[in-house]
Amino acid sequence: MLSLLPETAAVDDGQLAIGGIRASALADEFGTPLVVYCKRTIESAARAYREAAPDALPLYSLKALPNVAILRLLAEEGFGADVSTLGELAFALEAGVPGERIVVHGNNKSDEELRAAADANVRFVVLDALDEVERAAAAGVRDVLVRVTPGIAADTHEKIRTAHEGSKFGLPPDQALEVVLRARETGALATAGIHLHIGSQLLHMEAGLETVDWLGPFLARARDEIGWEPTVVDLGGGLGIRYVEADEPPRIADFVSALLARLAQAWQGEPPQVILEPGRSLVGRAGVSLYRVGVIKRASADLTYVAVDGGMSDNPRPQLYGARYSALLANRADEEPAHAYDVCGKHCESGDVLIEGARLPEPRRGDLLAVPATGAYTLSMGSNYNSVPRPPAVLVADGEAQVIRRRETVADLMRYEAATLNRS
Ligand code: LLP
Repeated sequence: MLSLLPETAAVDDGQLAIGGIRASALADEFGTPLVVYCKRTIESAARAYREAAPDALPLYSLKALPNVAILRLLAEEGFGADVSTLGELAFALEAGVPGERIVVHGNNKSDEELRAAADANVRFVVLDALDEVERAAAAGVRDVLVRVTPGIAADTHEKIRTAHEGSKFGLPPDQALEVVLRARETGALATAGIHLHIGSQLLHMEAGLETVDWLGPFLARARDEIGWEPTVVDLGGGLGIRYVEADEPPRIADFVSALLARLAQAWQGEPPQVILEPGRSLVGRAGVSLYRVGVIKRASADLTYVAVDGGMSDNPRPQLYGARYSALLANRADEEPAHAYDVCGKHCESGDVLIEGARLPEPRRGDLLAVPATGAYTLSMGSNYNSVPRPPAVLVADGEAQVIRRRETVADLMRYEAATLNRS
């Protein structure tokens, strides 16, 4: 289980600790549900990217966890930001990420988003549609990449593949070249290069390598047909993390080095400026969700539910992708598992099951359940279903905890109600 937890996780006297603080102390101080982030795990992942690709421009894909403190931490490690909406751009700017280290995505950017990108002087806007060319030029955008869909189906959940034929993202090769021509015609846009992102939670190298190989002939075609020689290649993100012990993702160093080695073969001429956009592999392992155990219910002869005080509102990934997680009792971390239990949430839906068949010591009301590998795409995809406020996040290091996102309250939710009494 330790291999799923953050680097600083340790068990002392039966108690799980992260960043030098016991999970039970964190739960007592900040309440549950709570997402605990380990600073050192994020820094190590960031450094692994920097070491494997010292000449690349590394960007944090902040959709994994839009958080100003984490963005600042990653900026100190040399990361810029990849953003895909006005809101994400605002987070990057709030954290002080300079425009020259921001790349703007989106399969349906509004004029307002294009103008905001131009105003922020972002490094690149990634064109993702034919009609975006003129709209980007009119908005004052200058430097662009074009997102190409190579038609490669990555080996991951179908809902998080992006480079297959028929994807809503990017453009098939013919249209991508048409974008380059049209951009040239505007006289206002400089199309510096190509963007590729094949999917997320990749546990194998093959699709990434195949995509880089695909680039060779595509570049030759671009040069021969329209005389275009890109100088930038953005390889997107996508590296998976370990959610359960059976997952064996490549190491960051191996993933990046293999892609770069292959790119050196596929690319002709001057080596390109490489951009990388990891999200999950920077923050996923760093996060652990803590829940308080409530009702324990024997539903049938071979099914016992352990209900926790959160669920699909703070982590909808099991419902969306059939995502699998593991769990441990943070306050009894040295006890052997007794049985398999289904960990369910408190939401009014039978599908609100976080983990099927979690192996745990016999749980008791009040135990603290820790779910590892919840740092990415949990808080960022959370909701207020059943009017449940979303949990806070704390960043831990060297025995200190810092709140990096405060707990939502029911009063926060009530603020959107137009028909409430006029409370201030
Ligand atoms: N760049 C682009 C253009 C992307 O669309 C994404 C993710 C990334 C980078 C970062 O990918 P990562 O390194 O995190 O795999 N909600 C899903 C994941 C959706 C990913 C969307 N795009 C999940 O919970 O698994």
